Amino acid sequence: MDATETISTFTDFFVSRGHRLLAGRTLLPQPGDPVLFTSAGMHPLTPFLAGAPHPLGRRLTGVQRCLRTTDLEEVGDQSHLTVFQMLGSWSLGDYDGPQSLRWGMELICDHFGLNPELLHATVFDGNGPVGPDAEALQTWEDLGLPVELLKDNWWSNGPTGPCGPDSEIFAWTGDGPPSGRPSTDPRWVELWNHVTMRYLREPDGSLSPLPRPVVDTGMGLERLLMVAQQVGSVFETDLFAPWIAVLPGLWQPGERSLRILTDHLRSSVVVIADGVRPSSTGRGYVLRRLVRRSLTALWSGCDGPAGWGGGEDSLTLGDLPSDLIADTGERFGLAADPAVVRGVLLSEERKFAGLVRRGRSVLARLYPSGRLTEDDYEFLRDTHGLPRELVAELANPQRS
Ligand code: SER
Repeated sequence: MDATETISTFTDFFVSRGHRLLAGRTLLPQPGDPVLFTSAGMHPLTPFLAGAPHPLGRRLTGVQRCLRTTDLEEVGDQSHLTVFQMLGSWSLGDYDGPQSLRWGMELICDHFGLNPELLHATVFDGNGPVGPDAEALQTWEDLGLPVELLKDNWWSNGPTGPCGPDSEIFAWTGDGPPSGRPSTDPRWVELWNHVTMRYLREPDGSLSPLPRPVVDTGMGLERLLMVAQQVGSVFETDLFAPWIAVLPGLWQPGERSLRILTDHLRSSVVVIADGVRPSSTGRGYVLRRLVRRSLTALWSGCDGPAGWGGGEDSLTLGDLPSDLIADTGERFGLAADPAVVRGVLLSEERKFAGLVRRGRSVLARLYPSGRLTEDDYEFLRDTHGLPRELVAELANPQRS
């Protein structure tokens, strides 16, 4: 099953169980929202999770693009991505958590073909004022899944707002038979999170009951594809095939650089198509970091004129093919204009290349040994505007 069929299988499953299909929304939350980007499928639904009636009713499903910067350093491993799509289902005061878990199990085993013997559940073990989630534990035991009880199985989208215990489904991605538990063995990959939201976290930190309990579930499309298509990483799923087919011919990056470039440039395309432009603060800064990290991955693996600060001969993001940009936008439900996206990338590339040239000459002049203390990094940042990441890379280039 490819990505398109996987999405429709998910949403059809819930639509045939009385859910209404939501349209995916922009990555940019409403003005006044303290969060920079939509980081979970539930985010656009926050007022409805907190009690407002939803115009489409009490059972909802959909696919939402999300962005998480918390995982930026982990990008390049098997499953972490910056921009991704989250498949979701919601019960706004309708069915309960156990029903959601039972449907979840039916969908991933009977429709996506996952082997139940390669699944593991985790359940909230109680923490502070809230006791263990006995209903979820009982449901998984009835369904025959091994369960790990964890105190930090608690989900919220920020310091205040709807929150509650969650139960996560993990899939085994190791070569041999499953071993260990989700919290002890990283080969258990988190697949689907079912949150039973029963509380509202108040600004003073206390919990008050929600007007009606809510079930909020989210499953990363790319991870589901990795597990269902039985490949070693999200980058080997059909979703990434257009990128993996094009980039090696364009730039010959090493394996890790290829993954970083794929994630960061794909994410940049989506963020630009959603209207963000690089800047030194807020959302624009997130985009700037993505583009500059891409350029670092692109240039640091190359010697000679193609590499760092090589001027006109440097490898350039301007070579990204138009159909790759347009196809990426389309997959996220966006009309990404290749000329606009490329223009934004190139303007940021020129700024960064200037910074690299300045950094190189300052480093050669002041620190010919390449050895720098924390004070030196601070001085270079405050006096010469050279970010730490860039200085570290220029002083100690890591070949990819
Ligand atoms: N809100 C939960 C999550 O993002 C489930 O959708 O994991």
